[in-house]
Amino acid sequence: MARKKKIGILTSGGDSPGMNAAVWAAVRVGRGLGIRIVGVVDGYQGLIENNIIELDGSKVEDVLDRGGTFLGSARCKEMLTEEGRQKAVKSVQDNQLDGLIVVGGDGSYKGARVLSERGVPTVGLPGTIDNDLAYTDYTIGFDTALNTVCDSILKIRDTMKSHDRVGIVEVMGRHCGDIALNAAVACGVDYVLVPEMEKEYKEEFDLSNVAERIKQIYKKQRTYATVLIAEGVCYDMEHRASVFRNRLSKATGLSVRETVLGYTQRGGSPSIYDRRLAINMADRAMALLSQGIGNRVVGRRNGEIFDMDIDAALDLPRAFNRQLYNLANRLAGE
Ligand code: F6P
Repeated sequence: MARKKKIGILTSGGDSPGMNAAVWAAVRVGRGLGIRIVGVVDGYQGLIENNIIELDGSKVEDVLDRGGTFLGSARCKEMLTEEGRQKAVKSVQDNQLDGLIVVGGDGSYKGARVLSERGVPTVGLPGTIDNDLAYTDYTIGFDTALNTVCDSILKIRDTMKSHDRVGIVEVMGRHCGDIALNAAVACGVDYVLVPEMEKEYKEEFDLSNVAERIKQIYKKQRTYATVLIAEGVCYDMEHRASVFRNRLSKATGLSVRETVLGYTQRGGSPSIYDRRLAINMADRAMALLSQGIGNRVVGRRNGEIFDMDIDAALDLPRAFNRQLYNLANRLAGE
């Protein structure tokens, strides 16, 4: 009798809502295809350390709508070394894996590429709240994070309004302002600062443009305002939000408060959109690996799930959505 196919799945890098849904779907789809699914604990670290668990139905029964990743995740430095990579491949061989699904961001994809190059059929699913992978319109977790951010902005706005204050809200996004930009449009924020535009902001971030707009708003429209800033802006600046708060307060003479949303954005039950995205993408990954096809990543473009070569996906430069940025500014009354 032929050996039953066996596929591993790991979650890697910063966790994102919907990672569990992807694992859940891989197990369910695997069951239908007669493929055994095993989970790698703590991402590549678990692969290197051979920390692999059986994922039968009961293990994943209640994870579909849970935030975080029950498999655990890590940012694994060892996977960047030759020794670590050899251990990872050996672990795949020792466990007789016929393929591997990697759910993570661009760093995780680089690990997936290494494994593919060394003969391990590997398929990447975009799991990151940052939405910073150029080849796909959406990443798993972005929608949930965006909803959390928008909910927080509206709550902060309530209290800013009561006290005639300016609220600065800092959101995640190390190199990518997608969360900030989309939240700015969805919440009608008064000014949005994103890393993609950093070069065009005034030197040293004197915030004079922001101050000018806020002053105009207070003069002509209302006596509260919201400014959104992505953490990628002045990434190396410590306590960026409070530095900006002091500068803005000095430049406007107004009462300014800052809120750093931090990890609240990364947790929580995945939205229906993220669950669907994760499930559809995991289904595609299983279809590929069941045929022994690796070196691919799965994405969603123009409403369709698709897959493409992992190298080509990693080579694509990220295009900044300038139109959306302009819209955010027009809505803010530029
Ligand atoms: O998951 C991506 C991300 O949320 C970035 O936006 C953020 O800079 C980073 O993770 C924080 O990661 P860590 O928890 O490893 O410091």
